[in-house]
Amino acid sequence: MTTTQTNAQTFAQDSRIKEAKALLLDALRDHQNSIDGVRPPHPGMQAETHAILSRFEEQRAGSLIFPYLGSGFGKGPLVELADGSVKYDLIAGIGVYLMGHNNPLIVEANIDAALSDVVIHGNLLQNVDSTVLVDQLLQLANRDTHVFDHCYITSSGVMAGENALKITFQKKHPANRIFAFKRNFAGRTLAFSQINDKPGLRIGLPDCFPVDHIPYFDPTRPEESIEETKQAIMDRILLHRGEHAAIIFELVQGEGGFHVGQRLFFREIMKLCRSHGIAVLVDEVQTFARLETPFAFQYFGLEDLIDVVWIGKASQVCATFFRKDFAPGKGLMGQTYTSTASMVRSSLATLKHLSEGGYWGPDGKINRLARHTVSRLKAFGDETGLIEGPYGLGSMIAFTPFGGDGEKVTAFVQTLFKNGVITLTAGANPTRVRFLLPYTVLDEKEIDKTLEIVFATLRSFSA
Ligand SMILES: Cc1ncc(COP(=O)(O)O)c(C=O)c1O
Repeated sequence: MTTTQTNAQTFAQDSRIKEAKALLLDALRDHQNSIDGVRPPHPGMQAETHAILSRFEEQRAGSLIFPYLGSGFGKGPLVELADGSVKYDLIAGIGVYLMGHNNPLIVEANIDAALSDVVIHGNLLQNVDSTVLVDQLLQLANRDTHVFDHCYITSSGVMAGENALKITFQKKHPANRIFAFKRNFAGRTLAFSQINDKPGLRIGLPDCFPVDHIPYFDPTRPEESIEETKQAIMDRILLHRGEHAAIIFELVQGEGGFHVGQRLFFREIMKLCRSHGIAVLVDEVQTFARLETPFAFQYFGLEDLIDVVWIGKASQVCATFFRKDFAPGKGLMGQTYTSTASMVRSSLATLKHLSEGGYWGPDGKINRLARHTVSRLKAFGDETGLIEGPYGLGSMIAFTPFGGDGEKVTAFVQTLFKNGVITLTAGANPTRVRFLLPYTVLDEKEIDKTLEIVFATLRSFSA
């Protein structure tokens, strides 16, 4: 009998594999039953975990943000740590665990990945799954209007940004200046250490290329803000004629403190830059799959004005999207590790779930849960005066306690961690507390439970 199936396909359909998978997932669900809320560290595990963490910090020559070492188990928004504690994870490994912890869909995707050859995907060998993923990512990016002709997968958010920079510099050669916004953050390579508006992170590093930092949108003075930023751009263009290759946008600033831009602001600045031959780049590493549309550029209606976009975090793989005329010259891009079978399968499972789960749209689940969270935070702020805000957009939500005092907010977030909710600070002057809600595994009740802990901690901290 002739067959048109590969061995990989017949292997995947083997009834023993289906049975084994069903057994594994049953066992997972059974063990998840014992995780039903926040738990303190186990007294017998605390000292050992502390010692392991201290050694690890010594080995990597730097402390971790939290004493956070996962046990490798969790259930939805709850994660178990190596000290036996269980905590609500509202920052999701800074946005990666959009599908929550030990989500059976992701576990199943990883069983499939484990059974497939090619752990590491890269320059020389990628499984056919990569091509399916690139098709789906391009369809998502082009779902309203055709924007991008190409999508290149890579291993991290900042690497996707590096690829964006390289193709842009190559196209705009010899222009070598970049416009970036104040409060911008885009990762930690040498190139991005120049672009980030965080001078502290480039101490002792050599300059790669000149960057002009310009003011971001100010919602308290929308019209003046547009004019000021345009003026700042024009001043620089006149000073350095023909030298600017690109401008980089975050449509909702992530590390900078969840500051949200405005459609008119973006369109005016983008049009001005394009009219001077400056490429428009959008970093969607933190915004991808957080708003009511898959990409933030779709929410703000910027399809006609952008050239290159890159994503990461929630997408499980990282990728750079670009128009035809930005296609790289031979050899400009290439990596031994672009992703793994596990990342590609997890990404496919995540995209499938998002497309089927009623998440998108003004009344989709993302906005419903966001509205609920925002209204609870607002009511608490009005009642107690302990917080300002909330700020952000979609499932990117932040608030400012203690007038945004960096030290106090950092101490608060550490205490909140001890009390069972993992969040993170964002921004400076003011420093805020932020959530990247893992909305696929949350409902209103679960959000209320986490906010009760947040509010109790705020009250006790202020007292
Ligand atoms: C907007 C933005 N761009 C890029 C990055 C870098 O991504 P990665 O840490 O995966 O390299 C980050 C990380 O926080 C980010 O928030």
